[in-house]
Amino acid sequence: MRTPFVAGNWKMNTTVAEAEKLVLEMLDGLGRIGGIEKVLCPPFVSLVAIEMMLKGSTIKLGAQNMHFETKGAYTGEISPLMLSDMCEFVILGHSERRHYFGETDEIVNKKVKTALTGGLKPILCIGERLEEKEAGKTEEVLSRQVRNALDGIRPGGPSGGSESRQTQDEHMTARLVIAYEPVWAIGTGKAATGEEAATTIHFIRGIVADLWTEALAQDLRVLYGGSVTSANIGEFVSQPVIDGALVGGASLKAEEFVGIVERTAEIRRA
Ligand code: PGA
Repeated sequence: MRTPFVAGNWKMNTTVAEAEKLVLEMLDGLGRIGGIEKVLCPPFVSLVAIEMMLKGSTIKLGAQNMHFETKGAYTGEISPLMLSDMCEFVILGHSERRHYFGETDEIVNKKVKTALTGGLKPILCIGERLEEKEAGKTEEVLSRQVRNALDGIRPGGPSGGSESRQTQDEHMTARLVIAYEPVWAIGTGKAATGEEAATTIHFIRGIVADLWTEALAQDLRVLYGGSVTSANIGEFVSQPVIDGALVGGASLKAEEFVGIVERTAEIRRA
């Protein structure tokens, strides 16, 4: 049984004061919903303030990015060591980072490895662009993104590990989350259909099964992302292969986001 999961990616929105206000508006509503993992990913500068606000609640914190080195002369960058104190999760390989900031599969792979060794849980984003979808290349693109991002990562840790096989396996699957976010659906209001997303996510689990094992792939949580709202979330999470959502725009509205989490928990409980 995979625990459902909903994360809000606030992207480059909210000042610290606005972020605090938004958390205040969601805190009670989200706090009341059980049986689901709830994660907020505000901008870096708000992490400290929000971590304090979330203390004692069941809401978890995530960052939106990090550098793949742990320290050094990288002006302006944020290290996993700085994050692991306050965050449990980190979004990696988001299409906006790939597109606007030149993040390659190789960089994403380095980040996933450093996050895992640094005790963070990566939310690895993958997804095809519109032109790739139209050219019938969706599977090829996703397969490449998954294989490259997880290159050299074996159950147990990036380079193997010395723990018993069972511990290694639990380790890996509990910590990685994949978010399938078709680029054409992000911020466009044109979400994929539930069936479309389910078929693709089934394909993604197949790649992970091929890389690791079928059992690990079955344990791995895979989310859908791209124009998710409280009105369409049901379409996705009623598909048993889809474990929840990575939500952008709608996570900036307290009522919407609480609605999405509520609906997900409700449908998964049924
Ligand atoms: P959106 O963004 O919900 O605004 O489409 C999703 C994402 O980029 O994670």
